[in-house]
Amino acid sequence: MSSLDWNSRPGQPLHGSVRVPGDKSVSHRALMLAAIAEGISHVRGFLEGEDTRATAAVLAQLGVRIETPSAGERVVHGVGLHGLRGTAQALDCGNAGTGMRLLTGLLAGQAFDSTLVGDASLSKRPMRRVTDPLASMGARIDTREGLPPLQVRGGQSLHGIRYELPVASAQVKSALLLAGLYAVGETEIIEPHPTRDYTERMLAAFGWPIDFSPGRAKLGGGHALHAADVDVPADFSSAAFFLVAASIVPGSVLRLPAVGLNPRRTGLLQALRLMGADITIEHEREAGGEPVGDLLVRHAPLHGIELPEALVPDMIDEFPVLFIAATVASGRTVIRGAAELRVKESDRIATMATGLRALGASIEETPDGAIIHGGPLGAGTVESRLDHRIAMSFAVAGLVAGGPVRINDCSHVATSFPGFLELANGCGFALQAAG
Ligand code: S3P
Repeated sequence: MSSLDWNSRPGQPLHGSVRVPGDKSVSHRALMLAAIAEGISHVRGFLEGEDTRATAAVLAQLGVRIETPSAGERVVHGVGLHGLRGTAQALDCGNAGTGMRLLTGLLAGQAFDSTLVGDASLSKRPMRRVTDPLASMGARIDTREGLPPLQVRGGQSLHGIRYELPVASAQVKSALLLAGLYAVGETEIIEPHPTRDYTERMLAAFGWPIDFSPGRAKLGGGHALHAADVDVPADFSSAAFFLVAASIVPGSVLRLPAVGLNPRRTGLLQALRLMGADITIEHEREAGGEPVGDLLVRHAPLHGIELPEALVPDMIDEFPVLFIAATVASGRTVIRGAAELRVKESDRIATMATGLRALGASIEETPDGAIIHGGPLGAGTVESRLDHRIAMSFAVAGLVAGGPVRINDCSHVATSFPGFLELANGCGFALQAAG
C-alpha cells in the first residue's frame, strides 16, 4: 500500500444521501460460512474492502471457488465442512484482525497445517486471546510470542469447552464457535458483556443448530452447513463518520439509507443522542435477518457526557470519531472501561490523544479511556498510524478546524471504506489527497 496523505478543510454544510459500503463483520463471516457450506451461496452488498478481499483470497488459496459477477456480489461454491485444501503458502490476512482471528478458529480443526500472516499493524496485535482457548480445545498453534505469524497445526482432534471470555470480543467468541464446528461435544461461550452476534445468527441461517442469547452461545460439532444467500447491510461503523460530521457542521441535513442497526453495533447512536444529537431512524425494517433503517441526521449543538460504560462494547469501533464529537461538544466528556481500544489497528486512545493535541485540543489519556474538554480545533498534522478509522475521524475533525488538518498515510482507509474520499466530498467535505 502506498503512502497517501489527506488535507481536510471546512467544506459546505453536509447535504444529500450517502450510501455507505457493506458491513465488514458480516462480509467476512458470509464468505467463511459459505466456503464450508454445502452448495452455492450468493452474497450481496459485500464490502469491497481490502480486509474482506483478503479473506476471499485466503479462502481461494484453500481451494474455494469464489466468483465476482459484479462489484459487491460474490458467488461462493461451498466445499463442505471437510472440503478445504491445505497450501504451503502463507495465508495473508492483510490488516484484518477479524479475518485472522476467525480463520484461526476455522483452520484449527482442519487436517492440514496453515500459516497466517498480516501487515505491520496486524503483526502487532495480540493473538493469545484466541490461541489459548483454542489450545484448551486441543488445537496446536504457534505464535511469535503471542503475535502473528500463526502456525496452525492440522490433524488435531478438537473437543468442546465451556469458556468464559475474559474480555468482551466477538472475534474471540466467533473463532471458538468456528473451531466448535469441528469439535467433539459442545462448545459454550459466556461473555462478560454481549457482543455482536453475527456468527451465531449466520450459523443458524446456514442450518447449524445453535443455542444463543445475548452474552452466551452454545453449539455442538458434527452437523453440516447448507448454502444460504446473505444480504449484507450497510456498515454502521462507516455510517458513524457521517453521523458525527453532520451533527457538528452547522446547517447539515444528511440521510444514510439502509444502515445495519444490530443493537450490538449502535452504541454510538445512543451516545450521540445523550450528547444532544438530532438523529432519527426512518423505515426501520428487517433485511437478511438483520434490523436496518435509514438514518436522518441534522446538525445540533453537542454537550459533553460521562459515557455509560455499558455502551462500550456496542460502539467499540466508533471511539475515534466519538473523540472528535467530544472535542467539538461543550464541556467535558469522560470515557472509561475502554482499554480494548489500546489493541485495535493502533492504540486508539494514544493515537487520538496525540492527534487531537496536535490540533490544540485538551485531552487527558487514562489507561482505559480519556477525559476530553470541548474547545476549538486548529490546523495541524496528525498521524493515522496505519489505522483506517483514525484517518477518517480526523477527516471529520477538519470540517470544523480553524485551518487545514493534514492526515499522514490514509492508504488504510481502503481496508474498510473504499471510496470514502469521493463519497465525503460528494456531500460537502473538502477533502483532498495531498501529494
Ligand atoms: C469485530 C469485532 C470487534 C471489532 C472489529 C470487528 C468482529 O473486535 O472491533 O472491528 O467482526 O467480530 P473485538 O472482537 O476484538 O472486540
